[in-house]
Amino acid sequence: MNIVLGITGSIAAYKACSIIRLLVKAGHEVQVVITPAGKEFITPITLSALTSKPVISDFFSQRDGTWHSHVSLGLWADAMLIAPATASTIGKMAHGIADNMLITTYLSMKAPVFLAPAMDLDMWAHPSTQENLSLLRQRGVTVIEPASGELASHLVGKGRMEEPEKIVESLLCALNAPSHPANAAAEASPLAGQRILLTAGPTYERIDPVRFIGNYSSGKMGIALAEECARRGAEVELVLGPTPLRPAMPYQDSKAVDAPAAGQIRITSVESAAEMHEAATHLYATCRSAILCAAVADFTPDQVAEQKIKRVGNDLILHLCPTPDIARALGEMKRSYNDGLKADADGKRKLLVGFALETHDELQHAREKMERKNLDFIVLNSLQDEGAGFRYDTNKITIVSRDTETAYPLKSKVEVAKDIIDRLTTLL
Ligand code: PMT
Repeated sequence: MNIVLGITGSIAAYKACSIIRLLVKAGHEVQVVITPAGKEFITPITLSALTSKPVISDFFSQRDGTWHSHVSLGLWADAMLIAPATASTIGKMAHGIADNMLITTYLSMKAPVFLAPAMDLDMWAHPSTQENLSLLRQRGVTVIEPASGELASHLVGKGRMEEPEKIVESLLCALNAPSHPANAAAEASPLAGQRILLTAGPTYERIDPVRFIGNYSSGKMGIALAEECARRGAEVELVLGPTPLRPAMPYQDSKAVDAPAAGQIRITSVESAAEMHEAATHLYATCRSAILCAAVADFTPDQVAEQKIKRVGNDLILHLCPTPDIARALGEMKRSYNDGLKADADGKRKLLVGFALETHDELQHAREKMERKNLDFIVLNSLQDEGAGFRYDTNKITIVSRDTETAYPLKSKVEVAKDIIDRLTTLL
């Protein structure tokens, strides 16, 4: 594949050398376009030695005055990766400020564009950076999230450019490059090319403009499941409650694309149980299976105060009414869809998996939920187990089906996701 690599002025520019080496080794052609600030961090001679091509930086060649055509680069490329991408370049991309060769190339690009941001933690968290990124995501740019750790400023936080291996993996996976081993593995998975719905994270039920009823779900478990499904080549619809976490793999938000590609995650962001219900019921209609990992509020205030509720008197009494039971609604959809199938259409049956978060009489409650919500199996996690449930990076689960109970030891949520998806694929 032909890849345009954009390099901007960040200390992480030295990592671009490893990105080039990995891409060239995997058989791809790389054309570097570097900003003037980028050249302060890494020399064009190093980059052209690695790519075997002259590096493009200026609109005209200094030597003979020939014009560098950003339009031809836009047509030549199968993908554009900007790594590292500074806050300044992200801002220029979002607002079309075409004052250097990299931005004009981006504006002419016909191929998918990927960004690996690199900056200080406060710059990363700044609303202008986040709004610019959100704009770019809506326009279809894939953001490869930065990692957390020690930054060039010696502060610790999020903003460090992701490691070259992970950037290249995300890029090639998303492009379904045959040179990437994950794509060969994905092709072999029964999930490959299947649409799957995941719900993850908490829901917030508004009380007034400043308060809500929520819960401790971080979204980690559901995001790990979404990533595992994408790794196996599924088209992943992730309905995500309010959490700052996002998948480390390429993802799009629902406004950017009509549907996720194989191996990609599309996020529909929601806040309340009612919004999650609406998104999930809409999406399940086009999905073969769903895993409901979100911690959904069971009750919501029957009225939302228009203004902040003031402290008058001692007690505040809220009247709560039940939220829609999403799992139950999807269980009904599954029943009527599967009932309409011919007897020999086993391979087309919709599947539905739920979670149960319990504090006591765990197995009994899990089994009741599995029946009531018409689930194929339920993943039980108990708050009695140290390291299991909300917010941890680990979980301890028992997979409960109608005829089996399989208990797993405490594992990372990434490993737990693999166990759950392995189990789901036995039913596909
Ligand atoms: O996000 P993390 O911090 O990583 O934590 C992960 C987790 C603990 C949230 C996750 O592992 C988990 O257990 N999720 C389900 C939590 C829960 O709400 O369980 P429940 O027993 O109340 O609900 C049972 C099932 O019905 C769940 O699949 C739930 O998504 C679903 N449900 C519940 C209520 C509702 N109104 N609609 C639903 O669909």
